[in-house]
Parts: sequence; C-alpha cells; structure tokens
Amino acid sequence: MDHHVSVVGTDLGFACAEGDTLLRSALRAGLSPTYECNSGSCGSCRYELVEGEMRDLRPDAPGLTARDRRKGRRLACQSEPLSSCSVRIAVSEQPARHRPVRQTADLREINRLTHDMAEFVFATRRPAAFSPGQYAMITLPDGRTERAYSMSNIGNCHGNWRFVIKRTPGGSATSVLFDHLEVGATVVLDGPYGNAHLREDDDRKIACVGGGSGIGAMTSIVLGAAALPDAADRTVHLFVGGRTTDDIVLPESLELAGRRLGALHVRTAVSEQHDDAGDAFRGFVHEAVVADLGDDVTDFTCYAAGPPAMTDALARSLVIDRGLDAELLRFDRFC
Ligand code: FES
Repeated sequence: MDHHVSVVGTDLGFACAEGDTLLRSALRAGLSPTYECNSGSCGSCRYELVEGEMRDLRPDAPGLTARDRRKGRRLACQSEPLSSCSVRIAVSEQPARHRPVRQTADLREINRLTHDMAEFVFATRRPAAFSPGQYAMITLPDGRTERAYSMSNIGNCHGNWRFVIKRTPGGSATSVLFDHLEVGATVVLDGPYGNAHLREDDDRKIACVGGGSGIGAMTSIVLGAAALPDAADRTVHLFVGGRTTDDIVLPESLELAGRRLGALHVRTAVSEQHDDAGDAFRGFVHEAVVADLGDDVTDFTCYAAGPPAMTDALARSLVIDRGLDAELLRFDRFC
C-alpha cells in the first residue's frame, strides 16, 4: 500500500510505496531532495517528521550527530514511512534528469583488473538511463546486503551497466561479489542516484580525480565528455591515484575517448612507491593535481571519486588553498 507524503510549506507531495524510503520515493516522483550517499553516512538528507509514523532503518547511522538526534532530525535515506505523513525537508526546484528505477539485473561478465579490483557487468531489460558519474544501489542475492557502486560506462539503450569495484578487506558485500557471485546470478539494481554527475552545459575545462575504484566514476565522466557534440573542443585532465602502480588501472575505453576529445591528459600518482613507477607522480593524487594545474585550477570544473581522505584533501587543496569555487568541485560523500 502506498503512503502519501506532504512536504510542509509547499504544495508538493508524493506517494511512497511500502518498503521504500522517503528519499528514494521522492526521487522516483521527480522531486530533488538534498542527498549524497543514500546510505546514512553523509547527513545531507536530514529532515524533520512533522506528522505520521516512520521506521528508522539505521538508528545508529553516522550521518546524524547527537545534537541532530536531540533536535528530532532524521535521515530521509534511512526513513521508511509506515503511514501517510508530513515532513519538513529541503527540495530543489531542479528535477533530477533520471528517476531511479528498482529492477533486476543479471551478471554478464567479471573482468579482473588488478589484485583487488574487478569490473562487474550487469544487464537489465530496460535501458541503462543515467548521467555520467552517477551510482546505483545493488542488493545482492541474499536480499539484505545493499551497497552503492558507481557506473563506469555511460547511459545506453542496451541495459548495460558496468561497475569497477574494489575488494574491501573483511567487507561482506565484496566477499560475495568477488568470491561467490557467478556469471548468470541475479541482483536487484536500484538507480541511478548521485549529484556529482557531468554537467553537459558547463563548457569549462574538466579535471577528473579518482582514487581506488573511483576510477570507475571518473571513466564515466571522461566517456560522457567524449560523447558530447563539442567533444573535439574539450580538454580533460584525468588524475588516478593509488598506493603503488599495482593499484592503478586505466580502462581501455579511455583510449577511444581520448581520440574524440580535443585533449585527454592522463596522470597517475603513487603515494607509497618510489622505484620503478615510470612517469607516475610520487605523492598523493591531490598533490599531482596541484603540481600539474597550479593556480589554473580555478579554470576547471573538477569531478572526484575516491576514499573520504582523498576527497577531503582535494577540497582543502583546491577550494581552501587555491580558491576554486566549492560548487566547481563535485563529488558525492560516502563516509
Ligand atoms: Fe542520507 Fe547521506 S545520509 S544521503
């Protein structure tokens, strides 16, 4: 049974299906509430329940502080309406380009990339409708384990979804993906989500910064830029970081993208390897960005994906130290 949700102070309202969250049902209805991680960690989807009954899916979610809890704030991505209700929540006027859809997906390929990264290719019956840089929530066959993974390709009518996934030491989801899931298995794919996607109407130069499996989302951004009508006039700098060269992979699809773009500059950075690293920058990937772009970084729109330590360091270096407009550094926080 659907529950009706009213947004206090507006004439907006939407239906929430049984078992869906407040955040996802709002997005499915074409509204654009503020959010990033969709998994309870970033805190950007905070709201207040004014009336009605709500189940809290993750009472200990790190996205809420003790003060938030004292003030009665909740997380829309962790709230499941149990009745019709009224909420006070920030909603942007700008509708999301693609409404998320929950559907089954079949695993078609597993391509090993490094000692701890692989590309997983899924197929859905419907077209793969998403913007470059977005992510999907994948529920594994046990029906309980759900994780967010970024697509590494671009939207297509063939229902082809590619993900570069890094094994998390001791991680329950990646141990299933890497050790147990076989080609032909079926998962539930819910998406797309995420706001750090390519802005097609932005004609500034592009810098993409990926750490670990963040190369997947950044590959999607590069491919998206290469598919634009004015690709031949565009310059993209791609920075890829890892501890050693064994941690770094550059997907083959980047080669074709490089031929379509006006210029594609690729720079790798290794933080823990001093010898035999070829022309890789020695240091952290945010330091490579500063070394290569310097003060010109303010001419760029920067996209980033990687561990929180990397995106935090990048924000300090580019926004605080070099004056890049914070709006021009785009990443979704997964803390
Ligand atoms: Fe809800 Fe991040 S905590 S979107």
